[in-house]
Amino acid sequence: MKIDQKKFIDSLGGPEAVGRMDDESRADALESHMMAELNRPKTGDPAWDHTRIEKYPTVAEIEAQIETRKYREGAGFMYVPRNRENVKRLTPVPANPTLYDFFKLRFMNTSKHVLQSAALAQRNGMPEEIVLACLLHDVVQEIMRTDHGWWGAQLFEPYVPEKVSFAIRYHQALRYFPDPAVGYEYPDLYRQLFGSDYVPPPYIQATYEMVRKHPWYMDARLVTVNDLYAFDPNAVVSIDPFVDIIGRHFKQPKEGLGNDGSPVAHMWRTIARPDQPL
Ligand SMILES: [Fe+2]
Ligand SMILES: [Fe+2]
Repeated sequence: MKIDQKKFIDSLGGPEAVGRMDDESRADALESHMMAELNRPKTGDPAWDHTRIEKYPTVAEIEAQIETRKYREGAGFMYVPRNRENVKRLTPVPANPTLYDFFKLRFMNTSKHVLQSAALAQRNGMPEEIVLACLLHDVVQEIMRTDHGWWGAQLFEPYVPEKVSFAIRYHQALRYFPDPAVGYEYPDLYRQLFGSDYVPPPYIQATYEMVRKHPWYMDARLVTVNDLYAFDPNAVVSIDPFVDIIGRHFKQPKEGLGNDGSPVAHMWRTIARPDQPL
């Protein structure tokens, strides 16, 4: 593995700080730096930017990375950019913002992935509700990644058909469980993210058992089937092919998302104004 010496020294606080370290601490620091680099997304794009690696880390190795970071992995991409650069000032959303406005002005870290996923679902001839679920399934990761299926379903629940929020909520749990009948395999990305010997926690297993028996199982499953993780950073994607589907199935509040007094309006305001201190 190639080490960027300047970056490594900077990460330890500069040459002077390194000079004060003994050999053993330097070796330890180098080891954790290499481990962190190995698992860092290569382009600064989120976790979907998966590059095949030769050896997947173990759960213990993933845990050892926690204290090499200045942030927690559950933090949303919009709030904590993973490219280690300063955040940029954002264009304010219009007074009555629509879903379209949020895609254009706020979902910058997640839109490529979900647009590719929705485009794949459309190419595969999926029903419009599945295409919509694919389009929305991961955008909540702008604010929160942990349990993003549940957060995402909640964010969209007042505005989409029940089947769509069901598919968004449960795609997260189904991702851990293969379904050969529809060609869905356990993703290599998860070996990288969670560790090669990872076992999903009991609530994920119980959720899977419940959804597996549910009449809408296939709706959630089809989101995972179209959930691309071999992400192509150069693909040209646009929200435009989905505007009609959004128009038919997404109940856009006339006051604008965040202003409609719904139980999730604060979540939309949180996305609209991420620089608001309180
Ligand atoms: Fe997801
Ligand atoms: Fe996804």
